[in-house]
Amino acid sequence: MKENNTKKVQSRREFLRYAGSFFISGLVVSSIYPILTSCEKDESLPPPPRGSSITIDLSEHPELKQIPSISKLSFQKPVSLTIIIKRTSKSEFVVFSAFCPHQGVELEVPSNPDGNIRCPKHFAEFSTSLSTAGFLVANPQGVKVGNLSTYHYEFDAAKNILTIKLS
Ligand code: FES
Repeated sequence: MKENNTKKVQSRREFLRYAGSFFISGLVVSSIYPILTSCEKDESLPPPPRGSSITIDLSEHPELKQIPSISKLSFQKPVSLTIIIKRTSKSEFVVFSAFCPHQGVELEVPSNPDGNIRCPKHFAEFSTSLSTAGFLVANPQGVKVGNLSTYHYEFDAAKNILTIKLS
């Protein structure tokens, strides 16, 4: 009889241990799942404050001296921003957002300045031509993606200063 009770207690303990491990693994899965799936959601960056702009002294960026040329630049002030700038003539530029309009992935600058800006995730491509700047020109995976945003700018040729208007 005593042996029977001991067996019952042992099997109850085993059951509790078994149920507990299921409960803990359920907790782990439910807390990791949102982290994993958050990568799948569309990400949109907060808009820069109204009227803000970034001033770039082009003499500090010799990579944009050639015509045509294209380069990705990152700034921390007055706002944290990464942009792609293409110089198309002595005084003309195209300033692109550096993030894919589909899921916010950082875009790749083409090695040829006249090539397309390319998304490394779903391989959408955006035109860098002056007349079609930012237009979606390739979408091999058929994702729901629009054109790439561009920014207005002013160029002071005498001072070699490019001012990007953020809003
Ligand atoms: S994230 Fe760029 S095309 Fe999907």
